[in-house]
Amino acid sequence: FQKVGDFLSLWAGETVELHCWGNVVRWRVPVYLEEEDEGRLKIKHLSQHSQLLVVNSTSTDIGEYSCWDSACAEGEDRQGNTFVFFTDREQLYVPTKDYYEAVQLHTHQPALLPCEVTNPLAQVTLHQEFPLEEVPVDGTAIFFNVKKGFTIHQPQASLAGSLFCMASLGHMRQISTKYMLVNINYPSSSPKPTILASALSIQLGENFSVTCTVLGEPEIAVDFSWEYPGQKATSHVTAQECLIVVHHEGQVQQKAESILHIGETWVGDAGVYTSRATNLQGTRTATTHILVI
Ligand SMILES: *[C@@H]1O[C@H](CO)[C@@H](O)[C@H](O)[C@H]1NC(C)=O
Ligand SMILES: *[C@@H]1O[C@H](CO)[C@@H](O)[C@H](O)[C@H]1NC(C)=O
Repeated sequence: FQKVGDFLSLWAGETVELHCWGNVVRWRVPVYLEEEDEGRLKIKHLSQHSQLLVVNSTSTDIGEYSCWDSACAEGEDRQGNTFVFFTDREQLYVPTKDYYEAVQLHTHQPALLPCEVTNPLAQVTLHQEFPLEEVPVDGTAIFFNVKKGFTIHQPQASLAGSLFCMASLGHMRQISTKYMLVNINYPSSSPKPTILASALSIQLGENFSVTCTVLGEPEIAVDFSWEYPGQKATSHVTAQECLIVVHHEGQVQQKAESILHIGETWVGDAGVYTSRATNLQGTRTATTHILVI
């Protein structure tokens, strides 16, 4: 057997045979192969080692194959792993299900455009569709790795739009799936709701309202939901939401409010009112207690 390196490049259709020494060997294979159930993946445990076979391989079997001996203490050095490419004579890209793939651009998170190639020797460049031009890849702000694709660190809003990869090898030049990059305003923290009722003790038959307010960064979507005693009989309760821009402590902020109007209070309206405010970073709640007299 040959000791495998960082990556292996085989022809699609070939059989892969990997061996891993150990008493209780575990394997990890690419998700596609794990989920597919056509009997192409075979694992045989022998006394001192384990054999992994992938027959009739396809370019979608691309990815990391690793093994470790679960009888040993956990440790990186005890792991074997390699990345396997299944080269296709006609196709430079691993087939994908969709012609378009949406990628969210979050201000504080790197974005990944996989453009998986079947051959590690392919030269891959990144292009914008409108206007049609190559996107400079400097190796820091935008980085290419043949196993992962393009990583965009700290995505700029100006990158939003349609991007694709161009792979060239010999006389072949092929474009990838289109990646639709969509800007998402990503909040720096979860919302901090405050709750205020028009009165804390209400006369039977009177109306009252409970307001939940989230003060935060502008253009960040906040979703509200409520839990309250009369929720099952909601005909006399209505919720209303509003969003306004305010200047607070010298900064532009957004005030998001959800107002619950309770008309003609009855005994069942007494109890705890909880407002749940959610943004992309998480959910927080605020509560108040209403008494009905
Ligand atoms: C592999 O391909 C051969 C030839 O096409 C076929 O006879 C065999 O059933 C395939 N094996 C599996 C496990 O798909
Ligand atoms: C109280 O609420 C009801 C609807 O539930 C409405 O018809 C009525 O006008 C309200 N009364 C006052 C004083 O706001």
